[in-house]
Amino acid sequence: MNVEAMKDAAGARAAALVTADMALGVGTGTTTERFIRALAASGIRPQVVVPSSLATGRALAAAGFAVHEPAGVRRLDLYVDGADEIDPALQLIKGGGGALVREKLLATIAERFVCIADERKLVPALGTFPLPVEVVPAAVAAVAERLLGLGDAVTPRTGFVSDNGNRILDVTGIDLRFPGEVEALLDSIPGVVGNGVFAHRRPDLVTVGQADGSVREVHRPV
Ligand code: A5P
Repeated sequence: MNVEAMKDAAGARAAALVTADMALGVGTGTTTERFIRALAASGIRPQVVVPSSLATGRALAAAGFAVHEPAGVRRLDLYVDGADEIDPALQLIKGGGGALVREKLLATIAERFVCIADERKLVPALGTFPLPVEVVPAAVAAVAERLLGLGDAVTPRTGFVSDNGNRILDVTGIDLRFPGEVEALLDSIPGVVGNGVFAHRRPDLVTVGQADGSVREVHRPV
């Protein structure tokens, strides 16, 4: 089975969890696109739909959903999003699409966070995927210097401006044996707006599209 079909299967399983009375947050990325497609096909129109990025807002509008801006939203019933890496404790690296700050915001205010992924995203330990760090433009050089002390290489994402008007630095070689500590440390650096480690807000459930066509549900360990 190809990767696209695995993403479809993971997204469809999450779409089946959505009900019309919900306030729903929608993530960003190619797997989330499959979720939007499946939700649109289901005919269910949640009361409130909040995108984690401008791109997702456009995709939702094109699929016929009325979209609410995150700025006015205090809580969500459900947040559905992809990930770049998922470890056995369901800690994540996210932000490959550069939407990590709004994604973490929506995941944090959601009662339930469901991550959707193909099985290639499951890893024994986080740290192969470059870790995205969102930085205010004025702090790019200073934060890059500081991050070089934590990782092997820091690469500014060329030509990319986040939906919040900021830059992304991708960090490789950072020691992620204790993801929660790294998440907090990075957030403490002046100029950093957010980082792609999701250790404090892990998903409650991951729907994993597998090569044999099935979907495995992995619940967060207590
Ligand atoms: C977007 O900023 C990311 O956090 C995505 O959720 C992540 O990169 C997964 O994207 P794909 O579903 O495209 O692999």
